[in-house]
Amino acid sequence: MQQTLNPERPLAEAPPFLSVRNLRKQFPVRIGFRKTGYVSAVDDISFDVQQGETLGIVGESGCGKSTTARLLLRLIEPDAGTVILNGRDVRKMDRGEDKVVRRSMQMVFQDPYTSVNPRMSIGENVSFPMKAHGVGKAERHERAALLLEQVGLHPHHASYFPHQLSGGQLQRVNIARALALEPKLIVCDEPVSALDKSIQAQVLNLLKDLQEQLKLTYLFISHDLNVVEYMSDHVLVMYLGQVVEACSSEELYREPLHPYSRVLLSSIPKVDPNSSAPVEPLGGEIPSPLNPPSGCRFRTRCPFAMEVCARERPILRQPSPGHGVACHLYKA
Ligand SMILES: Nc1ncnc2c1ncn2[C@@H]1O[C@H](COP(=O)(O)OP(=O)(O)O)[C@@H](O)[C@H]1O
Ligand code: SF4
Ligand SMILES: [Mg+2]
Repeated sequence: MQQTLNPERPLAEAPPFLSVRNLRKQFPVRIGFRKTGYVSAVDDISFDVQQGETLGIVGESGCGKSTTARLLLRLIEPDAGTVILNGRDVRKMDRGEDKVVRRSMQMVFQDPYTSVNPRMSIGENVSFPMKAHGVGKAERHERAALLLEQVGLHPHHASYFPHQLSGGQLQRVNIARALALEPKLIVCDEPVSALDKSIQAQVLNLLKDLQEQLKLTYLFISHDLNVVEYMSDHVLVMYLGQVVEACSSEELYREPLHPYSRVLLSSIPKVDPNSSAPVEPLGGEIPSPLNPPSGCRFRTRCPFAMEVCARERPILRQPSPGHGVACHLYKA
């Protein structure tokens, strides 16, 4: 189902910066040369993001968060669905336009150590995207120094090598590199999950400051609900490749509707990005995405499961304006 996060927005307001509709991706599973089935990694998801906002995507490991990110950045091609950026369908662009769009979307990955090239200096790592886009050496050098300062490092770090920096400093380098081509949208895929708690807060605050200064739009992916609440204006909750709840961050944390969101949220200590309290995992096994349950994919773990839940996939409805939930308990 197509779902707009904020149907109450006045019509005069600008159209969404990013609109995703009915996106799907399956991965073939092979044993030797034989195809034995498909993993349904992303199954019919739709959402909008306004310019300058942060959309959080949250859910347990394997629910399709990174696949969604890779589809948006066109690191992989979808099986179906559309991605509209600034009113233009990214799959229908000519080569020139396509190049501009690819520049305008960048990614910050989870592991700061494997995201940099260990054989390049920090300056070369930050400059790399500029080099690939034909920016001259002197300009690259100058801009890399500015970018390092912008992410809270010192220009002299340009001559260091990755093994000389800490994880937090390296993630700042990755953020600087993501900013090198002046993107409009940054997809942050678990950008602080590999960092110590104390460092996490610093990197999150840096991302927030940069967003404000540079008017960036973020897609912020994390399995950590505390971090997602701290960062996001709106949130999608994903389960086994599907969106089960979509609403403002404030509403999700105040009144989660989907049974999955409720369990997820009941298991976290109240929100403080500086907190070092552990997050409890949700009980029960996640079903295999190779053979997901019929109807509602959450039904094998849901305390409210009914007969209809095995038969029909619940569509995303809005029991209250702007608050989408895919569950047969809600009929609106
Ligand atoms: N290249 C791939 N080939 C096969 N299966 C994949 C591939 N990438 C992801 N998957 C599967 O797709 C599902 C979603 O993965 P992913 O998007 O990485 O989840 P998340 O980021 O939420 O942990 C998982 O079951 C994962 O094993
Ligand atoms: S549709 Fe049914 S099984 Fe799924 S979350 Fe709602 S009540 Fe539970
Ligand atoms: Mg992931």
